[in-house]
Amino acid sequence: MKIVNIGLIGFGTIGAGVVKVLKKKTTTLQKKRGIKLQLKYVCDQDISTSRGISVDKKILTTDVEKVLNDPNIDIVIELIGGIHPAKEFILKAIKNKKHVVTANKALLAEHGGEIFDAAAKNNVEIYFEASVGGAIPIIKSLREGLVANQVQNIFGIINGTSNYILSQMSLKGCDFKTALREAQDRGYAEKDPRLDINGMDSAHKIAILTKLCFSKKVDFKNIYVEGIDEVGLQDIKYADDLGYCIKLLAIAKKSGDEFEIRVHPTLLPKKHLLSSVNGVFNAIFINSDFAGDMLLYGQGAGQLPTASAVVSDLLEIANKIDNPNSISFSNMDREVPLRKMRSIDNVETRYYLRFSALDEPGVLSKIAQILGKQNISIYSVIQKGRRQAQAVSIVMMIHEAKEKNLRRALAQLDKLPIIKRKTIAIRVERG
Ligand code: HSE
Repeated sequence: MKIVNIGLIGFGTIGAGVVKVLKKKTTTLQKKRGIKLQLKYVCDQDISTSRGISVDKKILTTDVEKVLNDPNIDIVIELIGGIHPAKEFILKAIKNKKHVVTANKALLAEHGGEIFDAAAKNNVEIYFEASVGGAIPIIKSLREGLVANQVQNIFGIINGTSNYILSQMSLKGCDFKTALREAQDRGYAEKDPRLDINGMDSAHKIAILTKLCFSKKVDFKNIYVEGIDEVGLQDIKYADDLGYCIKLLAIAKKSGDEFEIRVHPTLLPKKHLLSSVNGVFNAIFINSDFAGDMLLYGQGAGQLPTASAVVSDLLEIANKIDNPNSISFSNMDREVPLRKMRSIDNVETRYYLRFSALDEPGVLSKIAQILGKQNISIYSVIQKGRRQAQAVSIVMMIHEAKEKNLRRALAQLDKLPIIKRKTIAIRVERG
């Protein structure tokens, strides 16, 4: 039987999950695939704290060089996350002709080019199923299942923590802080949960998906990103009254020779399939030329769901080691061209706007006039409450407007004495 030796770097939540899954499934995997996945090292700075799983002391090490330089190691799993030193570890593993499995979305989104080039040069594989959508086999679906298709657009809920928070706020009226604490306690959030909340984690993931679907080059720092930190209970409630829910969506669309890519809170009609995706669940909607519409749904975070994706990568690589002539779908660049990223200024979307405006005659006409001058057309308006000569919420839905026109209009509106607080603007997608 083929034995494939593995070195795990990073014994945190997901790392411990990988050890658990391997322990439970090694015999079944051996029987099913005829390959033995042998965990030779588990490496971390802290090897004394209990992870809720017993590990043979002989394989625990704090010496990462031992893992990277051992000629018997076939696959290195990197699960420490972040850019440094993960990048250096991965590059060294590649240089030493080891295949790599990683869940490191930040690294792949920001430095993927360098890493994939190094892997190609050294003839080794990089697998990263766990980097997007936790347990959902989205990478495999795009590379293999949809290989005969051109994806037209791909969008979804790809951050479990923020979806958990928005769901708790919406379904239970829970406040933001309590929901975040719960998500952290359940092991969904990143070490630095700001990345979940400020949309960067979703941006990393959609950058990876975009590289697989639309363009070899995605300039990460130019991706438009807004997080959920400013989504209030009030807007969740008003959106609900209008027949919408609010989700943090990551969106990438092909449009002629360009593509657009953005992450932001979004109003989605309640009848849209993604609207019923709650809690830590992720869902990714794909539209492609031959396959049409498709929705992948599953647990996007958490120890065992994510670990199962890592183990699936291990088996793929192990299979390739065992059958070196088998077909490889892993070349990230495939036939993906070099399309241009559309500037957010030129993106057109519908909007939900909430003005905090004085409740007095003539206010609406002043707002409508400024919007009209920027070529923005109003779809509906509702005033919430009645407080003469005081500020009330005016909720407005507008038709598709160019981002730069809306920004110009809001800059003027927010300076008017009738507007008492910064206007809330949330994009609307029909799906
Ligand atoms: N922190 C991520 C999330 C988990 O909440 O979705 C893995 O990417």
